[in-house]
Amino acid sequence: MYTPAATQVHLDEAVRATPFVQTGIAYGCDYNPEQWGPEVWAEDVLLMQQAGVDLVAINIFGWSALEPRAGEYDFTLLDTIIDLLHSHGIRVNLGTGTSSPPPWLTTAHPEILPQVEDGTTRYSGGRQAWCPSSPVFRAHALRLVERVAERYGAHPAVVLWHVSNELGCHNALCYCDDTAGAFRRWLEARYGTIAALNTAWGTSFWSQRYGAWEEIHTPRLTLSSRNPGQALDFHRFSSDELLGYYRAEEAVIRRHSRVPVTTNFMVTAHIRNLDYWSWASDVDVVANDHYLDHRLDDPTTELAFSADLSRGLADGGGWLLMEQATSAVNWQPLNRAKAPGEMTRNSLSHVARGAEAICFFQWRASQQGSEKFHSALVPHAGTDTVLWKEVVELGATLTRLREVVGTRVVADTAILFSWEAWWAADNESRPSKAVTYLEQVHAAYTALHRLGVTVDIVSPDADLTGYRLVVVPALYLTTDEQADNLAAFVAAGGHTLVTFYSGIVDEDDRVRLGGYPGAFRDLLGISVEEFVPLSPDQAVRLDAFGADAFGADAFGADAFGADATGTLWTERLRLASAEAIASYADGTLVGVPAITRNRHGSGAAWYLATAPDHTTYRDLLRVIAREARVTATGPENDGLLEVIRRVGDDRSFVFIINHGVSDTVVATADGIDIVTGDAVTGTVLVPAGAVRVIREETAS
Ligand code: GLA
Repeated sequence: MYTPAATQVHLDEAVRATPFVQTGIAYGCDYNPEQWGPEVWAEDVLLMQQAGVDLVAINIFGWSALEPRAGEYDFTLLDTIIDLLHSHGIRVNLGTGTSSPPPWLTTAHPEILPQVEDGTTRYSGGRQAWCPSSPVFRAHALRLVERVAERYGAHPAVVLWHVSNELGCHNALCYCDDTAGAFRRWLEARYGTIAALNTAWGTSFWSQRYGAWEEIHTPRLTLSSRNPGQALDFHRFSSDELLGYYRAEEAVIRRHSRVPVTTNFMVTAHIRNLDYWSWASDVDVVANDHYLDHRLDDPTTELAFSADLSRGLADGGGWLLMEQATSAVNWQPLNRAKAPGEMTRNSLSHVARGAEAICFFQWRASQQGSEKFHSALVPHAGTDTVLWKEVVELGATLTRLREVVGTRVVADTAILFSWEAWWAADNESRPSKAVTYLEQVHAAYTALHRLGVTVDIVSPDADLTGYRLVVVPALYLTTDEQADNLAAFVAAGGHTLVTFYSGIVDEDDRVRLGGYPGAFRDLLGISVEEFVPLSPDQAVRLDAFGADAFGADAFGADAFGADATGTLWTERLRLASAEAIASYADGTLVGVPAITRNRHGSGAAWYLATAPDHTTYRDLLRVIAREARVTATGPENDGLLEVIRRVGDDRSFVFIINHGVSDTVVATADGIDIVTGDAVTGTVLVPAGAVRVIREETAS
C-alpha cells in the first residue's frame, strides 16, 4: 500500500483532538444565515429549538464575507451567529470557510483556477474553483483558517470543525501545471527512479518510455486512450493531494483548538475520486453526505450500502450523517420530492447502520442562487407544511433514540470494496464498457439486502476474522496481500463468493498471467482462458443449476430457480480443483461452467463468472449464506422491509423499516418500541411507511 509522502503534514497522535461527544443522536443542518437578515435569524433559532435541531454547520461558504478584501477580516456576522446559536443551546459545527475562494482571489491569482482534462480552465462563478495543488490557494486558505481557528478555537459553542466542504466534489482531478509538478514529486516519492516508474506503467508499449521526471504530465486528453498506469496513479495522487490539503488545514486548527476535526465524505454512487480508506484514520469522526440518486434503479438500497460503507470507514463504530435532503435535490435531471415519511425512513436507515447524527443540507430553502430549488428543513412555503411537521416529528423520534448511541451493528457477512479497484476497473480500455465496478458491487449488495442479511463493507486489506461469508465483487485490481488475506480467511473455515473480473491485475494494473483470475486462481480452483462479454441486450441460460449439484439434503430441492440467466459477461472457464455448480445452456459457451465451488482448507470459495439476473443472484447467495451459516437479521423480502440490529454491552435494538405500502407483522424479541413507547411481545405490527425500533428485553 502506498504511504503518502513524508513531506505532507501529519499530526502527532499526542495532539489529536478530544473525541466528538455524543450524548444522543445529533440533529442538524447546514445553516447559511448570510443569505438572510437578522429578523430571520431570530426566527431561525426558535424554530431550531422547536424541531430539536442541536448541531448546526456554519461558515461553509463564508470566505467572501469573512475576508471581503485580501487580508481584511470581518467577523461581525460570524460572531453574532455563533453567539446566537450558543445562547439557544445549539452546538456549532464550524466550517473553516475555505471551500470556495472569493472573486478577489481568483481575479488576483487566476493561476489557482482548476483545469480539466482537455487543459481548459474552469472559472469562478460556481464553487470550488481551486486547484488542490495550488500553493497560492493553499497559502490564502490557511491564512483564513488560522484567523478562524484562533478566534473560535476555544468558543464553547464549537464542538466540531468542518474542514472545507466535500473536498474534491468538483475539483478532485486538476490537470494544470502546478498539479503536474506535484504529481511528479508524488511519483518520485512512490517510485524513486524513473526506471521503476517506466516498469510500473508499462511504458515500453506505444513508445511511452520516460527519460526524466519533467517529461511526465497529468493525464490530459490524448488522441487515443491514455496509459492506464498513469491514469491509476493520477487517481491515487489526487486523493492523496486532497488528503494532504485536509491535513494542512487540520494542522492549523490544531494550533488553536482541541475540538475534533472532520470533513464531509461523499460515499455516494456518482463520486469516486477519493480513496476514503486512506482518509478515514485522519478524521476525528467519520462524516458522510448522502443524497438519494434517482438515476439509479434502487436509490433506497444504495442509501443502505452507503451507510454500511460509512460504518466500515468508521471501523464499525458511530459516524455522522452530515448532509442529506429533506425532500428533492436540485442537481439531478428530475428532482423527485420525497413521499411523506420517506425522510424519516431514510434517516433511521442511517441510524440503524451506525449514524449518530442526522443532518441536512440545509436549514432554510434559499431564495436565490443555484440551489434555490433544493429542499430544506424550512421550505419556501414555511412551517405550515407537511414537511415541517415531519421535521419536528423526526427531531422528537431522534431524541427518543438517544439510548442507541454507543451500540454497534454486528454483521457476519462482508463485501470487499476498493476505490483503487474502482478506478482501475473502469479505466478507458476494458473488455466491456457495459460492466462497471459499482454496479457489480451494488448487485451483490442488493442480493444480500433482499435476503435480510446485514453486511459490513470493508477494505480488501481488512482483518476478515469473525466473518462467515465474504463477497468479493469485481475486485479487478487485487494486491498479493489482499489475495493472501482472502485465501487465509477461507482456509480457516470462511466462505467466499468471488465474482467475475476480480483478481485480474496487480497494483500496477499489470495482468496476472497464466489464466484469469490470477490472484484467486488457486483459491477458486479454476482457470479462465478468455473473457466473453455479452451485449447489454443478451442473456444466456444457466443449466445444471439445481439441487443435484449439492445433494438435496444440503440446500433443499428448490434452492435454485429453473429460469436462471446470466447477462453482460461470460468466460471460457476451466475447472482445476473446483466443481461446476451451473453451466451455460446456450450461447457460444454451452456446457462451460458459470458458477463453481472449491474446497479450500476448512472453507469454500465460490466463483460467479457471469452477472446473473436478480432472482438467480439471490438464489445463489441464499445457498452460500446457508452453507456459511450466516445469520439473517430480517426476513427475506423484495427490499421494502429492512431489519437491522444494534448491539451494546447491556442492551440491543432492532430497527424495522417498512418502505412498503402494506402494513406488515415482523417477529421480534419481547421489548419496548422506543418510537411509540408500546410494549412488544413476540411480534410487532409495522404500519406501511413506518419505522419501529425495539429495545429487546433479552439479547439473543
Ligand atoms: C453537497 C454540498 C452542499 C449542497 C448539497 C446539495 O452536499 O455539500 O453544499 O450543495 O450538495 O445537494
